[in-house]
Amino acid sequence: MTTNTLRLRVARITREAEGIQSYELVSQDGSALPEFEAGAHLDVQVPGLNGMRQYSLCNDPSETHRYVIAVQRDANGRGGSKAMHENVHEGDVLTVSEPLNDFPLLYGRSYVLIAGGIGITPLLAMARLLERTGAEWVLHYCTRDADRTAFRELLSTPSFAGRVHVHHDGGDPSKGLDVRALLATRGPGTRLYCCGPAGLMKAVREAATLHKWPWEKVHFEAFTAEGTSATHATPEEDFEVSLKSTGQVLRVPAGKSVLNVLRTHGVKVESDCEAGSCGTCVTRVCEGTPEHRDTFFQQEPAGNERMLVCVSRARSKRLVLDL
Ligand code: FES
Repeated sequence: MTTNTLRLRVARITREAEGIQSYELVSQDGSALPEFEAGAHLDVQVPGLNGMRQYSLCNDPSETHRYVIAVQRDANGRGGSKAMHENVHEGDVLTVSEPLNDFPLLYGRSYVLIAGGIGITPLLAMARLLERTGAEWVLHYCTRDADRTAFRELLSTPSFAGRVHVHHDGGDPSKGLDVRALLATRGPGTRLYCCGPAGLMKAVREAATLHKWPWEKVHFEAFTAEGTSATHATPEEDFEVSLKSTGQVLRVPAGKSVLNVLRTHGVKVESDCEAGSCGTCVTRVCEGTPEHRDTFFQQEPAGNERMLVCVSRARSKRLVLDL
């Protein structure tokens, strides 16, 4: 982990929906926690597992007395969500990073938020902030059914009720939210934020493309039960990237993207969606074999000469990047 770590006590675990629990984390001595922005996540050291798992913060960013994350149990995941559900109890102390934000809420005249499943978490923090600041916003929340809809009570309180639309598809996405119709119109300066499973993100990306949304106004974060950006079931391994211009070698640990590692070391790569769907962070590969994990290059294979460093990783032990 590259940022400061915190040791936080699990003050409360709450069942939010079928298979979804929230975890309220507080400092052990009652002191205030480092501030966070809407869209931020924590890297969490899950007891009994190697590596970190990323979980978005879903409480109001104005709060400094607690962090709240939510985890959906996924029996087919990499083990992080199962371990969070089975190994973590109230009163335990967890090691977490300070809040990190790869999905910041940028200035807009209005906002459309689209969440799928547990992808509600970063968007809930955004909705709380937008509501508190009097912004124009709407949230569409796609879930299978009412039992799997987290934070139902909160989302039906008067301050949210007029702005939150919950869509149940019963397991058949064709019966859920009509994304194409939703994105057919937009106001000037509207920003779109989407967080959810790959299928939803793909549908939103296609609809935004069809209706010519400006890409700088469209923001994605992949989310599975294993946490943000964890869209792949295969276990992640460490590898190295070498910068062609300086020869500097950087280690990319499991759970961290190449983009994050580059950024941590002051290497600037332009990015936008940070979910492998917009193509902004494309980087030339001089040596080594990338493992493509994006959705952007689906129509036109990327080959071994380029990669999207926000999500893609390496099949070889080292990649030399044209940076
Ligand atoms: S930033 Fe969008 S694909 Fe990497």
